[in-house]
Amino acid sequence: MEKNNLKLLITGVSGLLGNNLAHYFKDKQEVTGLYFSHPVVIRGIRTEKCDLLHDNSIRQIISDFNPSIIIHCASLTNIDQCESDRNLTEKINVAATKNIREAITDKDIKLVYISTDAVYDGVKGDFSEDDEIDPLNYYGLSKYEGELQILRKEHSLILRTNIFGWNIQDKKSLGEWILDELNGRRKINGFKDAYFSSIYTMEFARVIDIAIQKKLSGVYNCGSQNSCSKYEFAVKIAECFGLDRTLITPISIDDFNFKAKRGKNLSLNVNKLQKELDYKLPTIDQSIDAFYKDYKCGVSSQIKKGIDATHTKRDSKVIPYGRQWIDENDIQSVVNVLRSDWITQGPRVEEFEKLLTDYIGAKYAVAVNSGTSALHIACLAAGIEYGDKVITSPITFVASANCFVYCGASPDFADIDLKTYNIMPEEVKKKITQKTKAIIPVHFAGQSCDMETIYKITTQKESELSRKVFIIEDACHALGSIYKGKKVGSCEFSDMTVLSFHPVKHITTAEGGAVLTNDEGLYRALKRLRSHGITREPHELVEKVKAVNPWYYEQVDLGFNYRITDIQCALGISQLTKLDIFRSKRRRIVDIYNSAFGDLRHVRVPLESSDYDSNFHLYVLLFDFDRLDIERIELVSALLKMGIQTQVHYIPVYSHPFYRARFGVVKDCPNAEYYYKRCLSIPLYASMTESEVERVVSGVREIITSRTGDVKG
Ligand SMILES: Cc1ncc(COP(=O)(O)O)c(C=O)c1O
Repeated sequence: MEKNNLKLLITGVSGLLGNNLAHYFKDKQEVTGLYFSHPVVIRGIRTEKCDLLHDNSIRQIISDFNPSIIIHCASLTNIDQCESDRNLTEKINVAATKNIREAITDKDIKLVYISTDAVYDGVKGDFSEDDEIDPLNYYGLSKYEGELQILRKEHSLILRTNIFGWNIQDKKSLGEWILDELNGRRKINGFKDAYFSSIYTMEFARVIDIAIQKKLSGVYNCGSQNSCSKYEFAVKIAECFGLDRTLITPISIDDFNFKAKRGKNLSLNVNKLQKELDYKLPTIDQSIDAFYKDYKCGVSSQIKKGIDATHTKRDSKVIPYGRQWIDENDIQSVVNVLRSDWITQGPRVEEFEKLLTDYIGAKYAVAVNSGTSALHIACLAAGIEYGDKVITSPITFVASANCFVYCGASPDFADIDLKTYNIMPEEVKKKITQKTKAIIPVHFAGQSCDMETIYKITTQKESELSRKVFIIEDACHALGSIYKGKKVGSCEFSDMTVLSFHPVKHITTAEGGAVLTNDEGLYRALKRLRSHGITREPHELVEKVKAVNPWYYEQVDLGFNYRITDIQCALGISQLTKLDIFRSKRRRIVDIYNSAFGDLRHVRVPLESSDYDSNFHLYVLLFDFDRLDIERIELVSALLKMGIQTQVHYIPVYSHPFYRARFGVVKDCPNAEYYYKRCLSIPLYASMTESEVERVVSGVREIITSRTGDVKG
């Protein structure tokens, strides 16, 4: 089905109505669904975690997704729970609604609010919209207060309803509960004196669809055209599904001791809505019939398939220091490849490479199966070999140095700058010798090195040495970062740039990496090295005459199988479309962290300068543990007890046993030592919620201020 260009944002997508609406609208328009505590996956729509109580979260999502319509379904609907936890009910049903309305005050976004029949007192029945609002319970009152919030936004639509349908969660709607009980041949009671005009969710979705098309605004009742008692409802369901109606006993609602009061006759008069839409709402029988048909043709099981694929293994109590963001679009992209003819080196690899070069602004990209492989073939393409020396940073992941050690070269570690934690150009200058074949600057935590100075130093040394010294940027942390107005990876000041797509990085292909370059010769070499050193390019063949044979290829270098798959690249392509969103989400968290920790005297936040626009792969705090009178391990353990995972990035590479044994003890990197003793990375990833950020902020501040006396400066 052709989608229209309206973009729909649904809150409460893990709830009965939100989820059913997502199913209804997903083929018609682009849909994003928001959940909070129950992650869901719905084929064809993007779902995202959002804490509606934090106005920044919803603002950010609105600005990223730019919806034309918001259907606000998220609500606390358990009437007795609402009665006993009024505080929480007020927050979810009123304050969150206010946040949404305020987030779109000046925006041309249609707001649709799902209210309830419980705003009426349930005495006379057949309520029309002009009847007095007099809720008997706190649920009804909170939903009415929500309505008042919504009414402050022009052209919004409020629908007072009562629904049943196929739930995604274990929680059962009234219809499902009746079915389950009767199917299990268990006896149930039905209230013979409680009336309602419940409507099947998918019928309700159709009404909302028409109302949106007709640009309806105002307050309307929306239920089935007629009403019946809950007992009659249960009997109708039994009859429709061919179950034993004698299991249902009629009782009075007065015999039931509910915590919250309930209206007895909440039947709705839906004439106003029918007239405005020129549409006949279904009767209760028609609603039940549609409910039955959707069961028969598998809609109910499709709905129930919406499981938590993104977060199943996630321990909700522990906030990791980094993690991937995988949504339904990513999953679908991978599934499409799995259903296609190519799953290894097919069209997706080249497409991904092309998108990377388009995004970054380099001429060529060669995608491989990890950042480490990318570094390795970059070193091989640069001709690094036994006896060579390569300069890199000590504060990095071991792969930045392993890559040239694989080639037989040995490391020279240049000390870091204590402001940026990046390699210092003056130190690089000091270390370049006759043997130096390459320099691998690492853009630590996402902040670019001073590439222009490193480049100038290197070209000057090249003329002194009368030979090439390669610059290979290790930008495994820095996809999306900007240096002097250009994307890191443009290779303006280097020969090659290496990226990693490991899950904690900005975008992921599960495992994966790439080398970027502007040099065609290097590009050709990289492509060969990725795949055994084999070529079919006629101009690269030694036996040129044989090129006419379609089967002919030659191995001209000693390469590897570092190939990335189409499956991975499909994920990468989908992820790349969200890179700027990921960047801005991280940026927002960094701003919160900067202001939360900026006033702690013995804690240093990362330094930023205008030439270096970091993507913030990591957020590293430097703690003066001596002054704070706390050891790092105590801080790490205390945070972990609060469910906050931290990490040390990094142990200086030269101090690992392998490096000490192979290359000896390094003593000339005092800044790296100083940094290592104090650093700790706190959680930072695009899908972090406001409340997770808040937990981290208060956890760190609590430990630092209360236990150690560090106070506001
Ligand atoms: C700076 C740096 N370089 C290289 C790598 C290696 O990348 P990969 O894990 O994709 O092999 C990493 C991985 O974390 C890294 O942080």
